Amino acid sequence: MIEIRNMTKIFNEGTVNEKTALDDLNLTINDGDFICMIGANGSGKSTLLNCLSGAIIPEKGNIIMDGKDITLLTQHERAHEIGHLFQDPMAGTAPHMTIEENLALAAKNGSWLSKISESDRSFFREKLKKLDMDLENRLKMEVGVLSGGMRQALTLIMNTIKTPKLLLLDEHTAALDPETADKVLKLTKETVDEKNITCVMITHNMQTAIDMGNRLIMMNEGKIILDLNKEEKEKMSIDELRDLFRLNTSSQLDDDRMILL
Ligand SMILES: Nc1ncnc2c1ncn2[C@@H]1O[C@H](COP(=O)(O)OP(=O)(O)O)[C@@H](O)[C@H]1O
Ligand SMILES: [Mg+2]
Repeated sequence: MIEIRNMTKIFNEGTVNEKTALDDLNLTINDGDFICMIGANGSGKSTLLNCLSGAIIPEKGNIIMDGKDITLLTQHERAHEIGHLFQDPMAGTAPHMTIEENLALAAKNGSWLSKISESDRSFFREKLKKLDMDLENRLKMEVGVLSGGMRQALTLIMNTIKTPKLLLLDEHTAALDPETADKVLKLTKETVDEKNITCVMITHNMQTAIDMGNRLIMMNEGKIILDLNKEEKEKMSIDELRDLFRLNTSSQLDDDRMILL
């Protein structure tokens, strides 16, 4: 279980550019939760995930993971327990290393220089085969030559090859073409379900947020303004979600910056 307590993040405090990105936010993430997170641009979604991964340290508040306060742990200290994927498919892999070296890096806590054995290779092949992208036959290929979709799929495997305590997905399919995005989303669902991984996924696609996972959270101005369970969200239509967004914010129609897909 992960508890976020009274978390506040202020960027550029005391300057004209001061921005409260997270505003006294509270959230309990239960083991096995698959949370889809939506909200207007700039509502604090990425900042929340960055605080969880340790990329950003909040001004106030605490993050408790399985009873341990991890608020001040560095990103490096949490990396083995928390996976983090970004919109940029180039962000999660080392382009000048081969597919098998990237996978070994993820599977062996960074000690990839130790010899990659044949049993490692067959394990990697088995994982890659599930992608249906013919990567299982290209273990010695440098990752830099792969397409964005292939790299994002590989990044997903790398982040889940050892089951993380928490998987953070920050619009990880938004930069892919629709067909590839669907494929990576399907792979995400299968991987998360198979290993029962606790996961928070930011998406701009409201239908995806309704269809996937067991919980839907809507953010606005650094706060959670809606937290629906599986039954509640599955009854929801996109129009109703949009109405709830307007009801829970002061947003006027023409100021509705939520990207609705
Ligand atoms: N590193 C940063 N420096 C200054 N302001 C930032 C930084 N990161 C985010 N912000 C600001 O914090 C707010 C929340 O941003 P973000 O968490 O990226 O929103 P979202 O992911 O919901 O679009 C925005 O106003 C954004 O401009
Ligand atoms: Mg964002």
